[in-house]
Amino acid sequence: MKKIIAINCSPRSGWNTDILVREAAAGAAESGAETEVIDLYKLEKFTGCVSCFGCKMEGHLGRCVCRDGLYDVLEKIRQADGLILGSPVYLGDVSAGFRALYERLIFQYITYKTEIRSYSERRIPVLLILTSNIQAEYDAELLAIQGHA
Ligand SMILES: Cc1cc2nc3c(=O)[nH]c(=O)nc-3n(C[C@H](O)[C@H](O)[C@H](O)COP(=O)(O)O)c2cc1C
Repeated sequence: MKKIIAINCSPRSGWNTDILVREAAAGAAESGAETEVIDLYKLEKFTGCVSCFGCKMEGHLGRCVCRDGLYDVLEKIRQADGLILGSPVYLGDVSAGFRALYERLIFQYITYKTEIRSYSERRIPVLLILTSNIQAEYDAELLAIQGHA
């Protein structure tokens, strides 16, 4: 049976992102997958990558060694056949929680070697869900505030 991990990277449970993440997970379950939905902001405290380079040390290659709230999540993703990630758009970007997960998930697999590009044993298909609600006419104004325009 395929295993799908679905993660709501919004601090709000039961709102826009969570609803879509759970719907996507339900669709996967209907197709026969084993699914688990995780609320990122309900995990024990976690941070983004702290650049300890533990994941580049023999014995831990490709595995984040930081034992915080994301540790088990990263292991679950490693064993999953598919990943559903949902984030609200915050100031034109993903949420801070999403970004922390993203740093930790990706950096552990980077090898700094040309002969082997990734410590990940396989590719995991990802469904990315973004929710937002700003009206088009405000976009330009927001981008200007952020210094992009
Ligand atoms: C801090 C913050 C920043 C936001 N920035 C944007 C934005 O840049 N563009 C946008 O379209 N919506 C923005 N929104 C609205 C959310 O992206 C939108 O309401 C989203 O669907 C909320 O997801 P949730 O219901 O799962 O929490 C922002 C909301 C918050 C709280």
